[in-house]
Amino acid sequence: MRVFVAGAAGAIGQQLLPQLVAQGHQVTASTRSPAKAARLRELGAEPVVVDGLDAMAVGEAVARAEPEAVVHQMTSLAGGSDLRYFDRTFAVTNRLRTQGTDHLLAAAAAAGARRFIAQSYTGWPNIRGGGPVKTEDDPLDSDPPAAQRESLAAIRYLERVVPAAAPLQGIVLRYGSFYGPGASDAFVGLVRKRRLPVIGDGAGVWSFLHIRDAAAATVAALEHGRPGVYNVVDDEPARVTEWLPFLARAVGAQPPRRIPVWLGRLAAGEVAVTAMTQIRGSSNARAKRELGWQPAWPSWRQGFSGGLAAAEPVRGAA
Ligand SMILES: NC(=O)c1ccc[n+]([C@@H]2O[C@H](COP(=O)([O-])OP(=O)(O)OC[C@H]3O[C@@H](n4cnc5c(N)ncnc54)[C@H](OP(=O)(O)O)[C@@H]3O)[C@@H](O)[C@H]2O)c1
Repeated sequence: MRVFVAGAAGAIGQQLLPQLVAQGHQVTASTRSPAKAARLRELGAEPVVVDGLDAMAVGEAVARAEPEAVVHQMTSLAGGSDLRYFDRTFAVTNRLRTQGTDHLLAAAAAAGARRFIAQSYTGWPNIRGGGPVKTEDDPLDSDPPAAQRESLAAIRYLERVVPAAAPLQGIVLRYGSFYGPGASDAFVGLVRKRRLPVIGDGAGVWSFLHIRDAAAATVAALEHGRPGVYNVVDDEPARVTEWLPFLARAVGAQPPRRIPVWLGRLAAGEVAVTAMTQIRGSSNARAKRELGWQPAWPSWRQGFSGGLAAAEPVRGAA
């Protein structure tokens, strides 16, 4: 298949391109940076330099590539995120999820593409009530922390317009929290420095995903799955009190500190408190059933022990 990957030089793109090429797909890959074009070529793709917020340039690049499928992996998170000012640090990502999605959908439709796959996220967007694990049929949070409202609105927008883009077959992949090569250094750094404490009861439930498995699910979604939204996460949603001490042990760090909610709110804000105490995890049953995908790293237990730097699971690592 001819595939156009927008935002291909990031953490997920660098895992995705070799998997697409290995499956025999012919890939055009975008970056804004001429300096990254050589890397995209090394990964087996034909690079194109384009800004995802420039509708004309996107239209032209996609038209030239004549893709059968378009994959939207554009985010702007490389600068890290300050949870206290969540919407501010996600501002460009939110534009890429709204305007960027519109531009790419229009370009894909005009070029006669058949399939459109877009990156979304699962974890904090889930409703923070009821059971610990949510499916795609559960509602999203109707009352997110004030600092996350714009970011949730952008996710809602993307998740509404992509599956409704017929005749394009629009698939939204809600990736869980990434770890793995190029995806977890900052996070692990905080754990090593004991700057990621358990706040309150640590009852927040997280769904993780090895970045290589995110890429594999994306390849699967080129050929499988009806238009719609899919949670792409591992098999073991887990409370902060389970995974955070485990991660600290796995990287040889001291156990995480524990701090009360009031101190967490003061030090890191409401988003950090809800992430540590209230968020819900996600079920991958639909993705397994309809995309024919299985995570090679079924649990963060195995992944944190052997998969933070590795692209392939080591047999017996758990
Ligand atoms: N589910 C998750 O947990 C999740 C999801 C995404 C990212 N992350 C994490 O966030 C961190 C940063 O991610 P990242 O390394 O992928 O970097 P990033 O800054 O999020 O960039 C991702 C891709 O989006 C592109 N992009 C950014 N702004 C663009 C624009 N205006 N127009 C077109 N393309 C644009 C970048 O292109 P250029 O090549 O032009 O810079 C890059 O290819 C990593 O640790 C990653 O694991 C986590």
